[in-house]
This record gives sequence, structure tokens and C-alpha cells, in this order.
Amino acid sequence: ARITLRQLLDHAAEHEYGLPAFNINNMEQGLAIMEAADAVDSPVIIQASRGARNYANDIMLAKMIDALVDIYPHIPVCMHQDHGNGPATCATAIQYGFTSVMMDGSLMEDAKTPASYEYNVDVTRRVVEMAHACGVSVEGELGVLGSLETGMGEAEDGHGFEGKLSHDELLTDPDQAVDFVQATGVDALAIAMGTSHGAYKFTRKPDGDVLAMNVIEEIHRRLPNTHLVMHGSSSVPQELQDIINAYGGEMPQTWGVPVEEIQRGIKHGVRKVNVDTDNRLAITGAVRKILIEKPHEFDPRAYLKPAKDAMRKVCQDRFEQFGSAGHA
Ligand code: G3H
Ligand code: 13P
Ligand code: NA
Ligand code: ZN
Repeated sequence: ARITLRQLLDHAAEHEYGLPAFNINNMEQGLAIMEAADAVDSPVIIQASRGARNYANDIMLAKMIDALVDIYPHIPVCMHQDHGNGPATCATAIQYGFTSVMMDGSLMEDAKTPASYEYNVDVTRRVVEMAHACGVSVEGELGVLGSLETGMGEAEDGHGFEGKLSHDELLTDPDQAVDFVQATGVDALAIAMGTSHGAYKFTRKPDGDVLAMNVIEEIHRRLPNTHLVMHGSSSVPQELQDIINAYGGEMPQTWGVPVEEIQRGIKHGVRKVNVDTDNRLAITGAVRKILIEKPHEFDPRAYLKPAKDAMRKVCQDRFEQFGSAGHA
């Protein structure tokens, strides 16, 4: 059944667990998420970026979600707009049946330029008003995602900004977070503390200098009743990098967010944990492996089924590690 983000995260807070939010672009990813959830009895957050909506087509995506909900009627599913760039994107998501939207007002509508605090408050408040009138939840974002190692802030396309950002701009300010939640009425707040999107987050295993988990603890102290969201939370497992590189890939060594750091966040109010890259790595590794090992194969199912199975394993691991398993 469909459920809002607010309902899911309230339950998660009450029972002190976190929920992974997995990105969807195609049928195989949808099946992988639901098969994993069914296997461990977890509620589900499926999210689609603007890129995913363009890739799959809004109608296809909406009907795929309908189908997934019908196939697994006992699993609560929240369908979420990832990184909405303005009220229009959020409104059309709601028209297509999404039960939750992210209004990312940390960037301007071009999804490239850092926005002022005043712009962020205003646009997020307007989306909250519209979405709540439709019974839909809203996630806001305060602070610009980006690397504390390089000072590069992150535009939506994964490229850094021209100028470097200061340490302060890359970390959510706890005082501002209190004001933001009060002024906007968001159901969940995404914060910046050193993570970035994609595989290349850290050049070494992250410590407190580059991954500021203490910011989460401080914000949770000030806002104990606000559901916090961690973006850029793929762990970039070594074994998935190794499979890709063993079968013709060329990924330079990289580090993601260790699962134990996410688990620490979950102890301090983190309820939604965004994971896309790990699933992309699992899918690509499986496809590379089959195509190299079976060069005579040309039936797409021969590599898409292993790809789906590899993603299912990542999803199942995260449901268990974040504690949502058993809570469907
Ligand atoms: O926000 C980042 C997610 O991984 C979605 O990425 O915009 O390439 O679909 P995307
Ligand atoms: P990753 O790139 O770390 O998987 O982050 C995904 C994300 O934050 C989607 O909004
Ligand atoms: Na999101
Ligand atoms: Zn994100």
C-alpha cells in the first residue's frame, strides 16, 4: 500500500530505525527493491530524480509504481521525488501519485547555483503549503552538499561549482536548521555534513575532518522531533569496485560513507538515508561480469537478471543494516 514519507518516518523514529531511500529508473531496479523488502519485511522508500522521470517517462514510472504496489500489497511504499528543483516539479510529481516530494531549495531552479537562505525558506514554505493540502509530505534541504576535502560544492549534475565554498557553506548551521524547520513546516530535513553524490566522495576512509557526523548530533540535540535525511550515503563497497575493475572497468580507488557512520547517524535522528550509487555499482559489476564471461550471450535477460539480483542484495543489506527490516 502507498504511504506518505511522514507516516513512515514517524514510525521509524518511534522504533529508532532508519530507512534507505533507493532511486528507481527502470523495471529491474523497482523489482530489486521490492524483492529485497519482501525478503526482509521492510517498508520502502522509492525515489525518482528529475533525470529518472525523463529517462523512464512519467506515465511509465507512475504505472510501474502502481504495479510494484499491486505485486506486493503488504509492503508500505512511499514514492518520493528526489531533488525537486522547484514548485512545478513537485506539483507534477504529486499529479503522478508521488506521496512525498523533496523541494531542494539549497540550489536555485537551475540546480547549479547555490541559493540564498531567504529563497530556500520561501520556496520550501510554498511547496509545503501545496503538498500538505494534497496529503503529501515534504523534505527540505539546508546547506550545500559537497566535499570538505576539496571545498567543491556540488551542482545536481555532479560537477563542482566554479568557486570553492567555505567549510561553513558546506555544513548545515544548527541555528539556521531550527529556524528553517519552524519557518517552512517540512516533514524531513536533509543536511550537509561532507557527503557528496556519486562514487568519488573521499580519497581515503573518511574521518571526522571530512565527514562531520558531529553536525548531525548537534542538529538532533536542537531538533529532537525533526526527521533528518542523509544524502550521498552510498558506502561504495570495495568488493563492488573490485568486480567492476576485474571485468574491464576502470574506476580509480575511492571511499564512500561507512555503514557504521550511517548507523551512528540513525542513533541521532537520521531516518532517511539516500542510496543510489551502490546500486549502480552492483548492476554495472554484474553486467560486466556476464558479458565478459559469456561473450556469446545476447539475450538482455542473461545480464539484467543477475544485475537485478546484485541490486537486490545491496538493498537487502541496507534494510538490515539501517534497522528497517521486520517493520513492514
Ligand atoms: O541525486 C542523485 C541521485 O543519485 C540521482 O541521480 O540525477 O543522475 O538520476 P540522477
Ligand atoms: P549516492 O550517490 O551516495 O548513492 O547518493 C544518492 C542521493 O543522495 C540521492 O539523492
Ligand atoms: Na530526496
Ligand atoms: Zn541527494
